[in-house]
This record gives sequence, C-alpha cells and structure tokens, in this order.
Amino acid sequence: MVNPDHSIADTEKPVPQAIPVTLQVNGIVHHLKILPWVTLLDALRDRIGLTGTKKGCDHGQCGACTVLVDGIRVNACLTLAIMKDGAAVTTVEGLETDGNLHALQQAFVKHDAFQCGYCTSGQILSALGLLNEGQARTKEEIRELMSGNLCRCGTYPNIVAAIQEVMQAKEGAT
Ligand code: FES
Ligand code: FES
Repeated sequence: MVNPDHSIADTEKPVPQAIPVTLQVNGIVHHLKILPWVTLLDALRDRIGLTGTKKGCDHGQCGACTVLVDGIRVNACLTLAIMKDGAAVTTVEGLETDGNLHALQQAFVKHDAFQCGYCTSGQILSALGLLNEGQARTKEEIRELMSGNLCRCGTYPNIVAAIQEVMQAKEGAT
C-alpha cells in the first residue's frame, strides 16, 4: 500500500549542495563549486577540461588516473575533489616547460614506452612521484613501486628503462 506521507518525506530530504573548492592545477588557480561526491578525476576532466588524465577502471585498480597532489602521487578516481581544497595538483598537461617536454616524457618517447598510450600519462605521473619519493634504486624496485600502474599493452620493460634512465641522470646530477 502506498504511504500517503511518502511524497512529503521525499520533499523534506536535504538537497545536496555544491561546495566551493579551490584547486591549483599546473600553477593555475581554479575556483569551482563541486557536489560532494565528485572525484578529483572528474573535476579535472569534466570541469577543468584537462583530459590528459585518463579514466581506466574508475576503481583504483589501474593507475591511469594518477596525478600528483602536493607532490605525492594519488589515484584521482579514488579522491574526492572537495577533500583537496587548496591543494596543488600536477597533471600531464603541466609537465612541459617553455615548450620542452619533461625528461620523463622525453625518455618515454626515446624508449618507445607506450603502444596505445592510454596508460601513459598515469605512468609518467607515477614515475615522477616515484622519483620524488627517492625509494627506488634498482630495476626491481622501480617495478615494485610502479606496480599500481597497469599497462594492457605490456610495455613494462620499456617503461622501466625510461624511468631508470631519468633516475640515473638525476643521481648523476646531484
Ligand atoms: S581510473 Fe583510477 S585507478 Fe583506474
Ligand atoms: S600503452 Fe597501452 S595500456 Fe599502456
């Protein structure tokens, strides 16, 4: 039997409100109003228009959506945008400087470290996070610390070679 009060109860439910959020993305400040359940990935792609960050699984399993938040790599599909109010976000669009590709981007090209390219922006941002963390020394450690980034094309040896080259160049420069 239909509850005669049902429609009244529905109208009394609070309407979700968009919340002001400020994100500094690749050095540019964006003031947004975002519903509480919107992920950082969707905010970047659909609200800010930066589609370089890819949506693969949308469940934290593939790493295609990896970005840096305040220098630390995160899965943007598992991160609510409102949780990162005031944060600095780096996406693949922010890596080049004055028209020059980042060393990691150059190394990925040099080592042919992509096929379809769908995972590549996530791989590169994760590699950048890995270099910031300074935990990896060997090929095996690079593999282990990049294990959250899947590549359906299977270009793993080339990806590891590209990262290792940049890591060694960085170490040689310090
Ligand atoms: S899209 Fe985020 S981990 Fe797959
Ligand atoms: S290059 Fe195709 S998924 Fe990695």
